[in-house]
Amino acid sequence: MTNFDLIVKNATLPDGRRGMDILCKDGFISDIGLNIDAKANQVIDAEGYLVSPPFIDPHFHMDATLSLGTPRLNISGTLLEGIELWGELKPVQSIDDIIKRALKYCDLAISMGIGAIRSHVDICDDELKGVEALLEVRKTVAPYLDLQLVAFPQDGLFRSASAVGNLNRALDMGVEIVGGIPHFERTMDDGTESVRYLCELAAKRGLMVDMHCDESDDPMSRHIEALAYHTKRLSLQGMVTGSHLTSMHSMDNYYASKLIPLIAESGVHVIPNPLINIMLQGRHDTFPKRRGLTRVSELKEAGVTIGFGSDCMMDPWYSLGKADMLEVAAMGLHVGQLSSRAEMKWCFDAVTVNSAKIMGLEHYELQKNGRANMVLLQARNKIEAVRLKANRLLVIRDGKLIAQNDPVTTKLFMGGRPNLLNPADYETS
Ligand code: FE2
Repeated sequence: MTNFDLIVKNATLPDGRRGMDILCKDGFISDIGLNIDAKANQVIDAEGYLVSPPFIDPHFHMDATLSLGTPRLNISGTLLEGIELWGELKPVQSIDDIIKRALKYCDLAISMGIGAIRSHVDICDDELKGVEALLEVRKTVAPYLDLQLVAFPQDGLFRSASAVGNLNRALDMGVEIVGGIPHFERTMDDGTESVRYLCELAAKRGLMVDMHCDESDDPMSRHIEALAYHTKRLSLQGMVTGSHLTSMHSMDNYYASKLIPLIAESGVHVIPNPLINIMLQGRHDTFPKRRGLTRVSELKEAGVTIGFGSDCMMDPWYSLGKADMLEVAAMGLHVGQLSSRAEMKWCFDAVTVNSAKIMGLEHYELQKNGRANMVLLQARNKIEAVRLKANRLLVIRDGKLIAQNDPVTTKLFMGGRPNLLNPADYETS
């Protein structure tokens, strides 16, 4: 009889099935079902808690993370001062600095149950220090975390003199996705032209595209239209993502009603970054202040694949964060007013299965022949996981335990009252 590596007993799955056993061997799921009778080297009792495939962060900046306060803080709190501040840090940081900070972040991300990250890496540095550093980090963390890199021209593809050359060099070095920032080019025309250039470059190289697109409150920032158009024209459906799209929050409703079907038809994926969008957008407003989150419900209803990203942690743009994709989901839920039961469940999908689809991760879901990557949460269903920003009890990668957190409980000392509080005991169906 085969000896398996691991069996997880009595799990609740994201689709609601309860009492499930998950049998793993050689990094993959051999079987999943009720009462599996098999011998395994390691047995884990999930005690009815939710077992999910790992969290996926489809939008992050690993070259900037954990640099908060270096060389100074962002006083205005705006996106533009963040870019200015990052420009001050770039020339003075070393490859080693970036590697150390990135690895420290990866450790935290892994402990928080993140199994894959798509990170943008700034190529507007002629030495390409960020690229070199993150390629090294990608290799180091590969056994624990899938890291995808996007060649990101932070200072503008045409606005920065050497960006076109640097971007191509970065792709030659092994960065696998084409990035862009059309709204930061000097003119609308330059922005549109950058979208065309970058989509054609991706088509020629057979690569995916993920652009920071229309990350502003300007209702006339409409580069997503060009991104969808060129995606269709070049048959890149499913390979292209528009990140942020915050200008859609402010767009005229008639125009949005024409744009959204185009995005859906083009197969462009969308990544809002709720924590950062709510923090950075609307900064030029008095009252009412715009929220800046893109039109999540409307895009979702049109059939667009949407994943939530975290974008930043303790860097020039955002001084908070803790690699918690459930915090990201909860913020998206609140700002997007996604409060029906179905929408709240969908918010969990936005940081798991949807983002895995956007990143093109294979064998992601918990099913036979899927990868034996999973997280045991101290919650009993998807809504509870988001509500609690649930504790990650165990993180499993390739059928092996790679991180463990003790259960969160509180002892109460109030005579005659229950004396042990478990946050997961307030389950609603
Ligand atoms: Fe970003």
